[in-house]
Amino acid sequence: MCGIVAYVGEKDAYSLILKGLKRLEYRGYDSSGIALLEDGELNVYKKRGKVADLESQHAGKALKSTIGIGHTRWATHGEPNDVNAHPHYSNNRKLAIIHNGIIENYASIKQNLIKKGHVFQSETDTEVLIHFIEDIQHEAGNSLEDAVKLALREVVGAYAIVVMSVDHPGQLIAARKGSPLVIGIGENEFFFASDATPIIEYTKDVVYLDDYEVALVRDGKLTIQNLDNTETIPYIQTLEMELETIEKGGYDHFMIKEIFEQPRSIADSMRGRLNASEGHLQLGGLSGYMDDLVKAERIVIVGCGTSWHAGLVAEYLFEELARVNVEVEYASEFRYRNPVITEKDVVIAISQSGETADTLAAIELAKSKGATIFGICNVVGSSIARASHAGAYTHAGPEIGVASTKAFTAQVTVLTLMAIAVAKKKGTISDETYRHLLYEMENIPALVEKVFENATKIKEIAYIYKDSNNCLYLGRGFNYPVALEGALKLKEISYIHAEGYPAAEMKHGPIALIDEDMPVVFLATKDSSYEKIVSNIQEVKARKGRVIAIVTEGDTLIPSMVDFVIEVPEALEILTPLLSVIPLQLLSYYVAVMRGRNVDQPRNLAKSVTVE
Ligand code: AGP
Ligand code: GLU
Repeated sequence: MCGIVAYVGEKDAYSLILKGLKRLEYRGYDSSGIALLEDGELNVYKKRGKVADLESQHAGKALKSTIGIGHTRWATHGEPNDVNAHPHYSNNRKLAIIHNGIIENYASIKQNLIKKGHVFQSETDTEVLIHFIEDIQHEAGNSLEDAVKLALREVVGAYAIVVMSVDHPGQLIAARKGSPLVIGIGENEFFFASDATPIIEYTKDVVYLDDYEVALVRDGKLTIQNLDNTETIPYIQTLEMELETIEKGGYDHFMIKEIFEQPRSIADSMRGRLNASEGHLQLGGLSGYMDDLVKAERIVIVGCGTSWHAGLVAEYLFEELARVNVEVEYASEFRYRNPVITEKDVVIAISQSGETADTLAAIELAKSKGATIFGICNVVGSSIARASHAGAYTHAGPEIGVASTKAFTAQVTVLTLMAIAVAKKKGTISDETYRHLLYEMENIPALVEKVFENATKIKEIAYIYKDSNNCLYLGRGFNYPVALEGALKLKEISYIHAEGYPAAEMKHGPIALIDEDMPVVFLATKDSSYEKIVSNIQEVKARKGRVIAIVTEGDTLIPSMVDFVIEVPEALEILTPLLSVIPLQLLSYYVAVMRGRNVDQPRNLAKSVTVE
C-alpha cells in the first residue's frame, strides 16, 4: 500500500525515482508525485492516476536534480486527486514531505495552525504534518531535524515519511512508526523506499529503519537517532534478493508467473527444514519456543484475507495432528473485541506482507496480555516478523500480484510442517505416520506440477463461465477454506460476485440461488467427506445448477454427474488444500484476463494493507 522512494546522490533523481515508483506499483495506489530541488527551487510534480500518467505529463521537460522524493498514494484522507497527491509543501513552501500512513490527530493540529495563519491546499493529514514541522522549526529556531522529531513526538498514528528542504540541499530526513522504510546505502548516494525493490539494482546494502527512529542524510553521511535524540548505530544488512526475481519472467502477469512458480516456492518453504529419508524436520525460527507450542492449551490464529484462509487450514491441521484447541480470528475483529487471552495462549499471526496493520495490532494486543507470538510471514524483516517472539518465514519469494497465490500455498506448507513437528513432539502421531507425512510433504511440489497439465482445460472452462455474474464455491473439511479462497480469488480479480461456503451449509440458504445460470464449483476430492459431497452435488444438479468439480484423478462417479471436472492427483486428505487450490487460482486468472481486468492490480485493492 502506497510507496515511498527518495534519493540523494550523483545520479539523475527524477528518472531514478520514477523507475522506483514503478517498481512499487504492485503495492496499489491511486496517484503519484515527485519533488525535486532544481537550481535552488523546490518543485513538486504530481498527478492522479498511474505513474505513467505523471511521466507523460512531464515528458520532454528537462527535470534535472540529484535529490528528490517520490510517492505513490493510496488515499485515506481526501479523495484521490492531483491536489491531495504527495509530495506536499509546508506553508512557506520551503519544505516538502511524502508520507505513508495516517496522522490520527491531524484535525486538532490543523485547527491550531489555521489560527496561526497557515493555509492548506489539500484535505490530507500529511500536509498538516509538514506545516506542523515548519511551525515548530520557526517557533523556537529549531533545526529541521529537531523540528521533525518534536513534531513526531506529538503525532498519534502511523507514518513513514521523508522530508526535504530548499534550504538544505543534499539533505534528507526520514522517519517511521508502523509503516515500513528501508534505506539503501550506495557509493556517495542514499536511497529511501518502502521496500527494497526500487533499491536493489543500485545497492544491496540496506538498513531497515525501526519505529521511532529518524534517519538523517547530510554531507554524504547517514545518522540515525531515536525521537529522544539518542543515536543508534545503523545495522547494515546485505540483501540476497535478485532483481530478476521480482520481474515477470516472460509471463503476461505477475499473478500467472507466481501461480506457476508454486512447485518451486513450496519446495523453498520446506528447504533446509525437511528431509524425509532422514526423518528430519526442524524449523529454525521456532527453536527455543517449541515448548510453548507443545504445551499450549489453545492456539489462536490471526490474519486477514487469504492469510486468514491459510489459518483455517491450519486449524484443521493442528486439531487433527496435534490434538490442540485452535481458534481462527480475523485480526481486525480480534483486536477490537477485548479477547480473552492469557500467557498460556499461543498466537500465530499469518501475513504475506508482514505489514498488515490489523494483524500487527492483533499481535501487539496479544503480546500485552502475555501470549507467545509466532509470525508466519513472507517478507523478511517485515514489521510482523519483527514483532513476533518466534516464527518461520514462508520463503515464497516476492509476491507482486495483489491476489495472493504462492504466498497461500507457502503459508499452508509452513503451517503443515509446524503441525507435524508439534504432533511429533507431543506424541499425538505415531513415528510411522510422522515418516509417512514427511514423504508425502516432500512429494507435494511434483504433484502441483501435475495439476498444471490441466491448464488448457481450465482455460476452456473459464471461457464458458467468463460472463457469469455470480459463482458459488463449496467444500467440506480441509477443502472448506479452499472454497473460501477460490471465491475470494475470483471476486478480487474478475469482479464477479462469488461466495465460498461449507457444502453442508448450502441447504441453509444459498441453495435458493441455484438455477441454470448459477455456476457452482465443488471441491470434491476423494476424502472422508466424499459421499456427502456427492449428495451435495446431486442437490445442485437437481436444481439445474452448473457444476464444475475438482476431483481426484481417476474418479469416475462425479464426472458422470457434473458439467466439467478438473482432476488433481491423489494425496493425503490433510494435504489436499495444497493441490485443490491450484485449479481455482488458474480459473480466476483466466476468467479475469478474458474479462480484460487489471489482474495484477485489481481496482480498489492494495497488496499491503497498512491502514486499518
Ligand atoms: C489476497 O489475495 C488479498 N489480496 C488479501 O486478502 C490479503 O491476503 C490480505 O490483505 C492479507 O495480507 P497479508 O497476508 O499481507 O497480511
Ligand atoms: N494519509 C495520507 C493521505 O491520505 C497517506 C496515505 C498513504 O499512505 O498513501 O494522503
